[in-house]
Amino acid sequence: MAPSEFAQKTAIVTGGCGGLGRAIAEAFLEAGTNVITCDINDDLISDFKEKVSTAHADRTLVLKLDITKDGSIDELFAEGKKVFKSIDFVVNNAGRIDKFDPVGAMDKAIWDAVIALNLTAPALVCKAAVNEFLSEGKKGAIVNIGSIASFRGFTCGAAYTASKHGLLGLTKNTGFFYASKGIRCNAILPGGMATNIANSLAQGVNMEGMGAMRITCKLLDSPSCNRWRDATDDLMVPEKADLQVDTAKVSALVLYLCSDAASIINGAAWTADGGATAN
Ligand SMILES: NC(=O)c1ccc[n+]([C@@H]2O[C@H](COP(=O)([O-])OP(=O)(O)OC[C@H]3O[C@@H](n4cnc5c(N)ncnc54)[C@H](O)[C@@H]3O)[C@@H](O)[C@H]2O)c1
Repeated sequence: MAPSEFAQKTAIVTGGCGGLGRAIAEAFLEAGTNVITCDINDDLISDFKEKVSTAHADRTLVLKLDITKDGSIDELFAEGKKVFKSIDFVVNNAGRIDKFDPVGAMDKAIWDAVIALNLTAPALVCKAAVNEFLSEGKKGAIVNIGSIASFRGFTCGAAYTASKHGLLGLTKNTGFFYASKGIRCNAILPGGMATNIANSLAQGVNMEGMGAMRITCKLLDSPSCNRWRDATDDLMVPEKADLQVDTAKVSALVLYLCSDAASIINGAAWTADGGATAN
């Protein structure tokens, strides 16, 4: 892709101060794109401002927002437009896992929180994005970060699996309907990445569900899945994961899907797991 096509443009990345979102934000900034991001984690926000915003003066806007709260997504778009005037790319990245609970052990509060962040918020972000693109007559692009859990049965618990399957449906529905208006919506479905996503497991894990996931991963026998399997022994030690999916490579894929070269790719879902789930 030509770097110039990203210059003078603006991207929104949700949950962009840590993990994959930060890598995506940095990739856009390197390509010359302004970045609007939001996060809920104070430490990550401070670190992003210190290390990333200062290196790209006047090209970042970082907002402390919980995108599951009413009005937060309107605020994200409105504040972003105040600073950068218009928006070209939108990445639904923020997400969380569950406790590996199968449905029979499901905790309704965790179900609600996972669906709110992984599915309802991305749907509202897509709504805001398409209406923004339509009002500006723009051929904007949306990229949704799914997971191999968007199509496999038990790589996580019921809530995460349902949320990521739902996100895939949202992607296809949006991509198909808005294709005639020049708006594209695609999904990337990564395997395991070394991010902070497993931190919440410190508060509790369904060991039976984790065991089922381990069986899945043994069958897959992929480096990215082995990360999770091996980590079960001491409840997630990300540094053990030396062969997981590289967030920089997933970020490059995000930019490709936003580029003109990908104009024929719409409503599609690309796995990014080194082939682990291809069989
Ligand atoms: N890490 C993996 O192995 C993996 C695999 C497949 C897919 N994914 C997906 O990748 C995406 C990014 O996850 P990650 O692995 O970087 O996790 P992460 O926890 O490192 O990053 C998620 C970011 O979102 C922010 N966030 C959380 N709740 C938020 C909220 N309510 N409002 C705004 N921001 C919020 C967090 O503070 C964090 O900065 C998620 O959609 C996740 O489901 C991750």
